Amino acid sequence: MSDTPLDPKIAIVKARVDALARSYQMGAPILETIWPSFYQNKKTGKIYRPHHDLEAEAVANDEPRYLLLKGGEGSGKSCAGIVKDLNKLRRGCDGIMVSPDLPHFKKSLWPEFQQWCPPKAIVAEERYKLEPTWEPSQGFALHFHTELGGIATLYCGGIDDPTGWHGPNVNFAHMDEAHRHPTADGLKTIDGRLRIPGPSNVPPQVTLTSTPKKNWLYEYFGEVDTKKFRPKDPLIPFKLRAKLVTLLTKDNEVNTFAGYADDRRLTLTEKEARVLLDAEWEDMSDSTPFLPGILIWDKCLDFALPNPTVYDPMIVALDAGVTNDSFGLIAVSPHPLLPGCLAVQAVHAWVPDQVSEKYLDAQGALDFRIIRDEIRTLIEDWNIIKVVYDRHELHLMAQDLSDIALIEPFSQQTSRLIADKHLRDLILQHRVLHRGEEQLRQHLENADAKIDDKGLRIVKREANKKIDLAVCLSMASYSIMEFVPKVEGYVATGMKPGQGTVIQQLYGLIN
Ligand SMILES: Nc1ncnc2c1ncn2[C@@H]1O[C@H](COP(=O)(O)OP(=O)(O)OP(=O)(O)O)[C@@H](O)[C@H]1O
Ligand SMILES: [Mg+2]
Repeated sequence: MSDTPLDPKIAIVKARVDALARSYQMGAPILETIWPSFYQNKKTGKIYRPHHDLEAEAVANDEPRYLLLKGGEGSGKSCAGIVKDLNKLRRGCDGIMVSPDLPHFKKSLWPEFQQWCPPKAIVAEERYKLEPTWEPSQGFALHFHTELGGIATLYCGGIDDPTGWHGPNVNFAHMDEAHRHPTADGLKTIDGRLRIPGPSNVPPQVTLTSTPKKNWLYEYFGEVDTKKFRPKDPLIPFKLRAKLVTLLTKDNEVNTFAGYADDRRLTLTEKEARVLLDAEWEDMSDSTPFLPGILIWDKCLDFALPNPTVYDPMIVALDAGVTNDSFGLIAVSPHPLLPGCLAVQAVHAWVPDQVSEKYLDAQGALDFRIIRDEIRTLIEDWNIIKVVYDRHELHLMAQDLSDIALIEPFSQQTSRLIADKHLRDLILQHRVLHRGEEQLRQHLENADAKIDDKGLRIVKREANKKIDLAVCLSMASYSIMEFVPKVEGYVATGMKPGQGTVIQQLYGLIN
């Protein structure tokens, strides 16, 4: 329970619900009204009672605009969201209630809604939808009698295609299991539909109910409760209007069964239990960050790196996302001054929502022909010894460039594994010098290392995070090494490949 004193209005509502619940449990008859004083689950017979004051406040309040009810499995997050929806509908507000897709809606949010929704609140001709045997085959609307004598509409369904939700103007929205969305697109679309105040000026509000996940959900809500915002975080205006409330699986055992959380823990790893039961923000993947910290990359910033000249032999690496959603290019050369080191000489990333229109085709995807022409100019103007690329994605482009440069596919199997490990060693040894290019730094920060019996591979930490430039750097760095003069110094100071820990100690990154 929180120590913060309750808002007096909420304290009164809470006391009233408790008193009614008590008298009902002692056998008092329930008054037949359209909207009951408290909500009762038809299946379990339980009466909705918030698990703590913060939940009570969040369910009762119409502000702030963005609310995340983050909870463990079976912690009661959907239930809290549903009760909040019902409270808005009875006051005459129109809303949207969605799951990430229709199958998920049918199996999770809708059956729970059926249990809590008072049948008489729905217009007579639609009440059959609350029968346990009824399930939707597509998105649908439900109409409610309001306490003011009007009708309120709830649009229900799955939001796998957010564009399908352009249309209704509503006052509130509830997105269940928001963590399943790969990006914030669903939130953005839904937020755009919240255009009208409810009766008595009820402000628009979006409620997300979800288990935590360190994807976009974390970017939007991760620091909301601590209010420790990163300077320059573009989401600060959002975060200032957002609230986060956490529900624990253990706290809802009164409505599931005693010992549920401990039983469930038996089949989970520690990490899984922290996320799925204790609702903590944590990365669930097995992979670890590619670099022990981005600081190690920042330490490779070379303020004195001379501008590239036509005398610097360079290797260019190209990598593209599977659906033409990004394209990366890196050129590296041996470092002009430091033997044994290499220099990042060119970095370029083309991403559809960041490039000018000339790079896009009619569908809004990257037009590789325009990019190819720019690469052609680069090859003609500089001393490019070789271009390496991912055969699967860029075969056609490579053919087009083969008249002006040596073009070689870079095996994404064995060679990539060796190259990725090699790149990590080089960076840990402080041997990849660069000029601080922001996009490359970001892609390295987005990169995880997946380590298994085959080796180490650079992978994306999240589906929507770009790592093309990290992959390019890996392919280019490996390919240039035969041109990098070897030096004795690294051996003498103990900086042999694979001994990155020496460097980490030097920089105080580890003890
Ligand atoms: N505050 C509450 N009062 C009474 N019953 C509750 C309450 N919260 C949840 N329940 C009941 O507990 C069970 C689990 O709740 P719910 O489905 O909302 O949890 P959840 O966190 O959404 O679970 P999941 O992880 O499966 O989506 C349901 O039977 C629900 O009716
Ligand atoms: Mg749920």
